[in-house]
Amino acid sequence: MISVSELTHTLGNRRVLDEVSADIPKGKITALIGPNGAGKSTLLHLIARHSPIQAGFIHLDEEDLTKISATDMALRMAVVAQDLGVSSRLRVKDLVAFGRWPKHHGRPTDKDREAVKQALEEFHLVDLQERFLDEISGGQKQRAFVAMAYVQDTDWLLLDEPLNNLDIRYAKSLMQHLRKMAEEKGKSIVIVIHDLNYALANADYFIAVKEGQIAFAGETSQVVTSEALSHLYEAEVNIIEKDGKRFAFHH
Ligand SMILES: Nc1ncnc2c1ncn2[C@@H]1O[C@H](COP(=O)(O)OP(=O)(O)OP(=O)(O)O)[C@@H](O)[C@H]1O
Ligand SMILES: [Mg+2]
Repeated sequence: MISVSELTHTLGNRRVLDEVSADIPKGKITALIGPNGAGKSTLLHLIARHSPIQAGFIHLDEEDLTKISATDMALRMAVVAQDLGVSSRLRVKDLVAFGRWPKHHGRPTDKDREAVKQALEEFHLVDLQERFLDEISGGQKQRAFVAMAYVQDTDWLLLDEPLNNLDIRYAKSLMQHLRKMAEEKGKSIVIVIHDLNYALANADYFIAVKEGQIAFAGETSQVVTSEALSHLYEAEVNIIEKDGKRFAFHH
């Protein structure tokens, strides 16, 4: 479990997180939702230790996050940030292979090479593997970064809007991958997501953030309602059921 307690974070003179407390369950897919500017990425950055905690606590599987070594963190948590700014003179295959670094520290074994090969196949990157990152499209780049996090093979995987730029085929394929990782390998996945239908179809748990505070949190079937979503986005959203599945309609 990732346990966030009374997290407050100020950027400039804006309080972007205001005494946020939330538990993120293990072995499940958690959707982190909320309007633009709500504080989702900030929360993810703090959990990923991309920025120091100003006030409050985060525990990763009962351990104080600030006490975990950088080496240990890289073995336990993989992160795909919203902003994929990185040296573009890197080939796709090298970026993906970089995800294995925490495991081999520069001495890849056959297992590492096999993991990279498999990820390139699973994320449909084989034909692109020799290309530089500045020679591929936004969606292709997004897939390369997800593949890099995937090969890291950590218990926790945090993804900030990984569906950005992905067409329906790749978005579906990515969500199926994440489901398999949670169901078959017991991985814990946190995904910041704006597409409510992908979230409804795949997330076990929802955490909704609004104006730096938790609007609601809990099991998908229990907390995601038309009222809760409409209130969250200040726009009408209707949940309807068809063939036993739930969909969010907003137009
Ligand atoms: N460097 C900064 N200085 C001041 N305010 C900032 C800074 N970075 C972000 N913010 C503000 O912090 C708030 C939270 O931003 P954050 O990126 O966490 O939102 P988000 O929920 O991820 O939104 P989105 O859905 O648009 O990605 C926003 O109001 C944003 O304008
Ligand atoms: Mg964001």
